[in-house]
Amino acid sequence: MDTKRLSAKLEKALSAQMNVEDLQSHVYLSYGIWASDEGYEGIANFLFRHAQEERDHAIKFMQYILNRGGKPKVEALPSPGKDPKSLTDCFNLVFQHEVDNTQKIYELVDMAMAEKDWATWNFLQWFVQEQIEEETLAMDLIDKLKIAGGDRATDESLFNLDKTLGVMPDEAESARDATGTNP
Ligand code: FEO
Repeated sequence: MDTKRLSAKLEKALSAQMNVEDLQSHVYLSYGIWASDEGYEGIANFLFRHAQEERDHAIKFMQYILNRGGKPKVEALPSPGKDPKSLTDCFNLVFQHEVDNTQKIYELVDMAMAEKDWATWNFLQWFVQEQIEEETLAMDLIDKLKIAGGDRATDESLFNLDKTLGVMPDEAESARDATGTNP
């Protein structure tokens, strides 16, 4: 008896997204290595933690496909790309990666909706929310660097920014967590 609860099309698309999340993890790993090599240990630490989060996202896709009777496929990953040219470039790239990933998640949501696969649609809502947080986090990085002076920041303000990002929480505060008493 066929117990698979995913269409072949969705199984393939979700599996592709598992590989995309893994690639994101490699991208953050490579940016973390770049930042560490440049002497920004706090920023590197932040990027390494984020690489781990992306890996967790890949595992979430893997587990969901398996739970629905499908079989995800691990593919060869493309290169994570060139090193950033500067901290501004690095944070802009992080933001762009997140926006691109949001687009991919939206395409999956569209696909699940077209198939009336509400289980997958529901599973994907976690990622819709997560992408809001990740985009907010990336915007925060850009803002913090701007306040520090951007590429013309002094060594002292970069030192302080590096220290802040080294201990910055991995999750952005989101509207979801706000309540009347905790706006
Ligand atoms: Fe898994 Fe940053 O998206």
